[in-house]
Amino acid sequence: MTEEFPLAPDLCHLNHAAVGPWPRRTAEAVARFAEENASQGSVGYPQWLGVEQRLRERLARLIAAESADDIALAKNTSEALSIIAHGLSWSPGDNIVGIRQEFPSNRIVWESLADRGVEWRALDLAASSDPEPDLLALCDASTRMIAVSWVQYASGLRLDLEGIGAFCRANDILFCVDAIQGLGALPFDLASTRADFVVADGHKWMLGPEGVALLYVRPELRDTLSLHQFGWHMVEHCGDFDRTHWTPAASARRFECGSPNLLGVHALEASLSLLEEVGMNKVWEGIQARADHLIALIDRRGFDLVTPRESERRAGILTFRVPGVASDHLYPALMGRRVLCAHRGGGIRFSPHFYTPLEVIDRAMETLDQIVRG
Ligand SMILES: Cc1ncc(COP(=O)(O)O)c(C=O)c1O
Repeated sequence: MTEEFPLAPDLCHLNHAAVGPWPRRTAEAVARFAEENASQGSVGYPQWLGVEQRLRERLARLIAAESADDIALAKNTSEALSIIAHGLSWSPGDNIVGIRQEFPSNRIVWESLADRGVEWRALDLAASSDPEPDLLALCDASTRMIAVSWVQYASGLRLDLEGIGAFCRANDILFCVDAIQGLGALPFDLASTRADFVVADGHKWMLGPEGVALLYVRPELRDTLSLHQFGWHMVEHCGDFDRTHWTPAASARRFECGSPNLLGVHALEASLSLLEEVGMNKVWEGIQARADHLIALIDRRGFDLVTPRESERRAGILTFRVPGVASDHLYPALMGRRVLCAHRGGGIRFSPHFYTPLEVIDRAMETLDQIVRG
């Protein structure tokens, strides 16, 4: 796999939960697209639309959606969440149940509905030893939606989506999943999770660029979302510029108002082609092996693992603390020594991907040892 990831040999890239590196084929697809634009202009536009369609198909397969028509391409996760939050009709007194420690986009978007009388109720994970039952216990007859991340960005906790989804379906509650910290790392199955909405930007575990995100809306719900962005691209008869009467596209394209981000589309399509070639089961096996390896190194040093230890409770994120050493001291020291990581949840967050050489993980931990020894 190293030929697909020409990362600088002195760099320990353990930051896929922030912004992943591009595979070589992605860098080449972007370079080809740039060259084509420079020398041919948009002569190849029809072929570019073919790449866009392939991307929708790949994303549909990644979440096991029935059709590429169910996939909209948004700018980012936050935009996709905003389309959902401000597309649904709410009544004063409705509530949305979520998690207090969520990434800000997953809190702010729901809080932005407060002026419509909608309450965002959040579970404090710090006070919960069993998150799913505690989350469900916050629901009542006024709960319209449960909105959570599949994998928590700071602690790396992976939720049991199937259990939450079954509860939502049984109680007529909508289920919105921010899948950005899981998609591209482990298999996702729409049918068993029963998610009504799935959102995820492509720049983390999917190894794509920033600026192209998946927005899945369950087809039955599509036209219950009011639209707030309009333009030539979101209409049923897209491209028929002489037409004066229009209706929103029947497909998820109705959520895309104007020109697509074709540069980003070319990049993400190439990145997903690699993940599909490897296969999501193999990708997930690779990540688990690296996570197990890292946990053994963390344990051997007596560091505190913030991420749950059980494999069904985590994905690719491992956050830990070094007793007696402040993480805000460790983080810049690691970054200064070319260990690309993050400072999250009061600890150091490492997030290797399936291809990360074990030697890179070992080297990062040895660098950490040197910093701790002073
Ligand atoms: C759970 C979660 N949601 C969303 C995002 C990013 O949102 P966006 O794609 O809008 O930049 C992140 C990035 O760290 C995240 O961890």
